[in-house]
Amino acid sequence: MKLNIAILPGDGIGPEIIEQAMKTVKAVANKFNHELKYEYGLTGATAIDQVGDPYPAETHELCMKSDAVLFGAIGDPKYDNNPKATVRPEQGLLAMRKKLGLYANIRPVETFKSLLHKSPLRRELVEGADFVCIRELTGGIYFGEKGRSEDRNTAFDTCTYTREEIERILKLGYEFAAKRGKKLTVVDKANVLETSRLWREVAQEMEPNYPDIKTEYMFVDNAAMQIIQWPKNFDVMVTENMFGDILTDEASVITGSLGLLPSASVGIHTSVFEPIHGSYPQAAGKDIANPIATILSAAMLFEYAFGLLDESKVIREAVAASMEAKIVTEDIAEGKAYKTSEVGDWIANYISK
Ligand code: IPM
Ligand code: MG
Repeated sequence: MKLNIAILPGDGIGPEIIEQAMKTVKAVANKFNHELKYEYGLTGATAIDQVGDPYPAETHELCMKSDAVLFGAIGDPKYDNNPKATVRPEQGLLAMRKKLGLYANIRPVETFKSLLHKSPLRRELVEGADFVCIRELTGGIYFGEKGRSEDRNTAFDTCTYTREEIERILKLGYEFAAKRGKKLTVVDKANVLETSRLWREVAQEMEPNYPDIKTEYMFVDNAAMQIIQWPKNFDVMVTENMFGDILTDEASVITGSLGLLPSASVGIHTSVFEPIHGSYPQAAGKDIANPIATILSAAMLFEYAFGLLDESKVIREAVAASMEAKIVTEDIAEGKAYKTSEVGDWIANYISK
């Protein structure tokens, strides 16, 4: 099969973790005789520095003509502490999501047996936890009208959702639940927010169409608590953009490290595969960051963009093997910590042999 992939390393540790994921992608393409074609594009602070735009038109064209996008990370501390910056790296990521119509961000939360002792939760609470968070990605407060008063002392961000936006993401949630544990948890704040009441109204209307699936409604504050208290009770969780952003950072650490969880953003145009963590600027260039979340994002790429399930499985098995063999970076190492590049090499070799 022809695999035509756009590679957007982005900022911070982005380039190093992408390099490891690409070793994996090449090893898999070789093993299964796929014809791999890939091209690099600029995004984030790196793109602002070079061309003044965090998501240049050229990068968008590259994404549009590719079959899948593998994305590293975005963000730079020089913008984080400057609320007055008018162009920000994150705008590149948001523009990419919006322009590619990526309305659903799929974030699987799985634990690794060999890492359970690294979880901040007790083993018996977290062992076997396995759920998917489906985060709405192109609506809500991230994209609503925002602004300042004339004297600039009052600011606002608006959260808006249409019925259509809610329906399409809930539909995806139900499809996932049907293939998994037949339970869908709709997370909202319907006791306070009008948008949440619309979410709940739409979900209640759709519920009878999925009689095999148990629909559960949960306020977001309660969900934040239940993720750490009973993570095994979740199967598929569906929620709006900002709630999903926050809850998935929380969910990721119960697996032992933020550096482990991949994601797929899907929708209208080319799908994007990226780790859920950020650009970790403190580690940039040091060869210490955990490449697993990006390597597992490549596994999702084979599955979701190409329907290549064996290829995806081979990557996940290689990742599990690297953990069993304790070839891991410092964030999860017990004894010796391996470099980012050593972990990448080990996993690519494991796949090739
Ligand atoms: C994520 C990130 C982004 C988001 C940032 C970098 C804009 O936190 O993908 O979760 O908030 O969506
Ligand atoms: Mg986030």
